Amino acid sequence: MEIKLQFKEATKYRTNYCGTLSAEDVGSRVTVSGWVAKRREHGEHLAFVDLRDYTGIIQCVVDGSVDVRSEYVLSVTGTLSKRPEGTVNDKISTGEVELTDCEVEIISNSDTPPVPLDEYSYSEESARLKYRYIDIRNPRMQRNLRLRSAMNASLRQSMIEQGFVEVETPLLWTPTPEGAREFVVPSRRQVGSFYALPQSPQIAKQLLMVGGVDRYFQIARCLRDEDLRADRQFEFTQLDIEASFVDEIDVMGFISKALKKTVSDLLGIEDIDIEKITWLESMRSYGVDKPDLRYDLKIHDISEYFKDTEVNALKAESVQAIVVKGGAEFSRKRLDDLVKRAIELGAKGLLWLKVVPDGESISFDSPISKFLKEKDILGFKESLNLSASDLVLVISGQWRASVEVLGAIRSELGKELYLNSEAKGNNRELKFVWVTEFPLFDGLDDSGNPISAHHPFTMPHSQDLDLLETEPLKVRSSAYDLVCNGWELGSGSIRIHSREIQEKVFKSLGLSIQEAQEKFGFLLDAFKYGAPPHGGFAIGLDRLVALIAGEDSIREVIAFPKTQSGADLMTGAPGEISGLLMRELGIKFSKELHGGQRVKSEKEAFS
Ligand code: AMO
Repeated sequence: MEIKLQFKEATKYRTNYCGTLSAEDVGSRVTVSGWVAKRREHGEHLAFVDLRDYTGIIQCVVDGSVDVRSEYVLSVTGTLSKRPEGTVNDKISTGEVELTDCEVEIISNSDTPPVPLDEYSYSEESARLKYRYIDIRNPRMQRNLRLRSAMNASLRQSMIEQGFVEVETPLLWTPTPEGAREFVVPSRRQVGSFYALPQSPQIAKQLLMVGGVDRYFQIARCLRDEDLRADRQFEFTQLDIEASFVDEIDVMGFISKALKKTVSDLLGIEDIDIEKITWLESMRSYGVDKPDLRYDLKIHDISEYFKDTEVNALKAESVQAIVVKGGAEFSRKRLDDLVKRAIELGAKGLLWLKVVPDGESISFDSPISKFLKEKDILGFKESLNLSASDLVLVISGQWRASVEVLGAIRSELGKELYLNSEAKGNNRELKFVWVTEFPLFDGLDDSGNPISAHHPFTMPHSQDLDLLETEPLKVRSSAYDLVCNGWELGSGSIRIHSREIQEKVFKSLGLSIQEAQEKFGFLLDAFKYGAPPHGGFAIGLDRLVALIAGEDSIREVIAFPKTQSGADLMTGAPGEISGLLMRELGIKFSKELHGGQRVKSEKEAFS
């Protein structure tokens, strides 16, 4: 997106923005203000000063005796002139013009900047974060922050157009079950009690539905104490929505509409296509619940062809394969590395078969070729539609584990072969997909109770209600995710609005009615007084804007992000608090505490 001028009125410091001056206005006297990007001497008496604001750079021809250096703040009044022939710079928008006869007012001076703004891509991230206020002057950060503002405006407008109202929900709140650890805030008024910062406005927005708000949205800050990665921060922002008297299709419709508008407003791409697959299809074909659809490399189930195979490595519950076009060229070392990688990821091994021409037909070059019977080979050829120069990678074992390992290998190969390769021009295309019918539970905890895959308020799939007590791990939910280029962009579900089903789900989770009442009593109570059917969704906005901006890390689209270890290098946070405040809050530290380690039970915590 090109950065557009957002404000035109003149102030005492400027009549124009630097990057907007053009040959059309030659002859006019203008005032611009900004930072010195560069100074070059021009003969004995003159200097060129490139002045920068967020719109770009203008070259000012100033008296050589003026003492200005990089990052000084100036206000320059000059005459807009055409540059002499042969000195036009077609790399910048103002390359045809310059300011001459300049009067320079030095507003602030600057020490030598610790992060070089003209060699942006070479600065260490830690230096950029420590001096973030300088780093933000960079065109990349300027563009990203402005993109983010435009995205928020566009989403907000779309939600309002769709009849949603913006309601702010509390930051000082009570625990919200989203699966991460809470950040807590000690209460001074009630010593020994704590607020929890919201992991999301989940419970609050459901209460708003009971309150008859009908359609709610919020650009909401959420806080989760979890391990940080390129796509995760402690605090992040969601476009959070909830609506009453709706089903899944309606909720996906609201979000699709908002998303389409934003992609159109920001990137000029009209009516993006959003595919839809079920969780099971996604796992079967891609081995993950957040598939990257920019490349194909699908997983094929070839178990049926090896039911009574004599090849030991293929005797298993399931045999899964991917076909890498052109992969027969891979070196032996490369194949050995792939096998190592599969083992690292938890597989027993990885079989590879190079497809080689064999007269009119094809055959296999593989460590197992001599053990393969004609019927095995036929099976392969038939189901995988192979041709010479393909490489087949096979993993056998339990279905879920096999597709997950193959899925991870698919994504690593996909990045290398189809995305980051120069031939493919670093594919930044956006491929959105809805993944629906997630399982309600995701495995069992240490005590054998199912773990909520989404959160415990998610409505089980209407056809699977009977399985809740008998086979909980088979219950599908009415939860759906939005995925883009392999990133989970958002999640949502239809919620349980009946106390009876809610109690059943709590029971499956191993929560007694009493425990549930203690934790979420206010929500269960609210449901006693007329709860409408409702459902909602939340898009992670840091992730959405990073994808739109073509950034690999959400830190590039956040003004003041934290490092991987959760530190703010600029302010030094987290820091100590005064002994006085600790006393007022009734807090005392003890060296014996676990300090940062996960504590699994109350018993462990106090042992
Ligand atoms: P969920 O927990 O899936 O759902 O969060 C929704 C989206 O928020 C983003 N996200 C994050 N972004 C950056 N850093 C993080 N630490 C982080 N954690 C989550 C992701 C994610 O898809 N209340 C439900 C939504 C609902 O059911 O309506 C919820 O919060 O993009």
